[in-house]
Amino acid sequence: MIKTEQLQHQVPVTDGVLTILKGINLSIKRGESIAIVGASGSGKSTLLGMLAGLDTPSSGKILLDGTEITQLDEEKRSAVRSKLVSFVFQNFQLLSSLNALENVMLPLEVANHPQAKQQAIEFLGRVGLAERHTHFPRQLSGGEQQRVALARAFASQAPILFADEPTGNLDTVTGGKVADLLFAMNKEAGTTLVLVTHDRALAQRCTRQYLMTAGELAELDT
Ligand SMILES: Nc1ncnc2c1ncn2[C@@H]1O[C@H](COP(=O)(O)OP(=O)(O)O)[C@@H](O)[C@H]1O
Ligand SMILES: [Mg+2]
Repeated sequence: MIKTEQLQHQVPVTDGVLTILKGINLSIKRGESIAIVGASGSGKSTLLGMLAGLDTPSSGKILLDGTEITQLDEEKRSAVRSKLVSFVFQNFQLLSSLNALENVMLPLEVANHPQAKQQAIEFLGRVGLAERHTHFPRQLSGGEQQRVALARAFASQAPILFADEPTGNLDTVTGGKVADLLFAMNKEAGTTLVLVTHDRALAQRCTRQYLMTAGELAELDT
């Protein structure tokens, strides 16, 4: 489902070049749930963005469902993304001019989902925000914004879900409910989960865990 070969990423900085990813080799099967843990600044978000085709690595290969995406132009990569991927950003990336319901509906409408509004209502309900449809992001707490972002990602029911610290802003009880939802999708729809997380309870529910250390990835014995 997801495979990388010698994935490297470097960015120019004032005093030279910073190597963020140092030759990542990863193979994730359909329906697996993967946790990526590691210190802040180790490269976890960078890797997730690359795997989802949101950014292009300096070198190496990324295969999503057999398609090598690093060689594609933005238009083709975007087509692969919309077919295969949904993403929950660390900073949510909700649109401030749209209310909660509209934020969840927007990608469904773009994808011509036949029942965008009903689908959005259902998934806002599942994350416990049935009472917050008309709230704008600035009128929601960090945890509530995170749940809107999760509802938006869940509603598209893509085969692969990437989530960057999906429970980072949630209390233990709400975080547990969100995790239940993630693993329900994993079980019922066979959704492949790739989660960056500091939440040990969440990481331990995954089938495999990887540790990122300064741009190098190692699988942990669990
Ligand atoms: N575009 C960029 N330019 C320069 N440095 C970057 C850029 N993107 C990320 N970094 C640096 O790369 C490192 C890894 O970042 P990131 O992937 O966000 O780490 P994590 O998600 O593990 O906290 C950090 O030191 C960060 O400052
Ligand atoms: Mg990060």
